[in-house]
Amino acid sequence: MGEFVVRGGRRLDGTVRINGAKNAVLPIMAASLLTDGPVVLRDVPQIRDVAVMTDVLTALGAVVERAGRSLAIDSRGVDRFQVPELLMQEMRASVFVMGPLLGRLGRAAIVQPGGCAIGDRPIDLHLAGFQALGAEVSEDAGGGTLVVSPRLKGAEIHLSFPSVGATENLMMAAVMADGETRIRNAAMEPEVVDLAQFLEQMGARIRGAGTPEIRISGCARLAGADHTVIPDRIEGATFALAAAASGGTVRMENCLADHLPGLWEHLRSLGCAIRVDDHDVVEVECPNAYPPRAISIYTGPYPGFATDMQAQFMALLLKVPGVHYISERVFENRLGHAGEFRRLGARITADQRVAIVYGGRGLHPGTVRAQDLRAGAGLVIAALEIPGSTHIVNSAVIERGYENLAGRLSRLGADVTCV
Ligand code: EPZ
Repeated sequence: MGEFVVRGGRRLDGTVRINGAKNAVLPIMAASLLTDGPVVLRDVPQIRDVAVMTDVLTALGAVVERAGRSLAIDSRGVDRFQVPELLMQEMRASVFVMGPLLGRLGRAAIVQPGGCAIGDRPIDLHLAGFQALGAEVSEDAGGGTLVVSPRLKGAEIHLSFPSVGATENLMMAAVMADGETRIRNAAMEPEVVDLAQFLEQMGARIRGAGTPEIRISGCARLAGADHTVIPDRIEGATFALAAAASGGTVRMENCLADHLPGLWEHLRSLGCAIRVDDHDVVEVECPNAYPPRAISIYTGPYPGFATDMQAQFMALLLKVPGVHYISERVFENRLGHAGEFRRLGARITADQRVAIVYGGRGLHPGTVRAQDLRAGAGLVIAALEIPGSTHIVNSAVIERGYENLAGRLSRLGADVTCV
């Protein structure tokens, strides 16, 4: 379970280095199954989700060795196509191995990943795309899903929603299909582009990653690759919002400002100074208080406002006097953290899709629960604003995606301990 204790009311000042992106390294680790050549991944964060994906690859027959911030993956021994149920249930991103297993072994079997706090998280778009590529999809009595295709054939696939995971899974299946595949209404997130670049280093021919239409020309085999994972833009947003909520000046290294459209304009409109230099350094200088404002946020697929920073931004809005509007348009139930903020004295009305935040009210310490990774990060940010000790239970979910968040915030002047 774990618990963070945050003694808030302190400014943040100093420099923090942003780690490699969780949401880039997980599909890239899965893509390593496509080759029997050696794969080296660099700047891999030390987080629970990477450990789980390591267990998944190992269970399928790969050998994964960590050396500092790098992983070496050898998939020569991959001969199993069934993802262990316990690992599937622990991390739904295990679904990313389906595309590579189809390409490598011609079959993949999973138990349907459960829903989570933020929504049902179906994989219908993934499965429909595999069928378009010629695979047979069947459900077994135990609720498992088997996908079989001795030989995938290139196809035209239109995604009804620009799903990140479906785009990535189908790209990984299509690189080994006969002929060309076109994915339309594809996700454009930087993590999709990073996966495409990794696959191209392995010898795949992919055009249009980062645009709504991706074309993949299938090939017979792929070689190993040595790849440095892109910076974690959501971790960068989290530290920037922690600084904005606490006041102070924080310099973030290995942070690509371009990957966070919609964030910097809002922070500037509140009076924060944002300085971008050397391409991958962003410095935020934030006041201790904000003038009255009315901020509206609409989350959406990239380059829209990232849903993964919605909870953290809501935490900041608690400090901004005014009535703010948040529309969550990606997940059907990703405003649950509003209830936890209310336990700290916040005034928020919310249903499943829209929250009205009455900012600028005094908050008080309390005990709250992290429901998911990003909601937990939002609670940490809110607690940084509150003098006194706030307890955040279930902090293990935060550590799934943030490496040593407590220690890194403390090095910036916060008082956050993990108990
Ligand atoms: C990825 O999840 C990220 N996870 C999520 O980050 C992120 O919030 C999400 O993309 C959106 O940016 C990883 O990359 C590991 P989607 P994914 O498929 O791929 C619906 C975090 O906090 N949908 O783009 O699961 C779905 O229900 C995590 O780091 C279908 O209906 O997201 C959702 O409403 C949370 N059918 C919407 O699309 C499908 O087959 C977006 O989901 C697939 C998705």
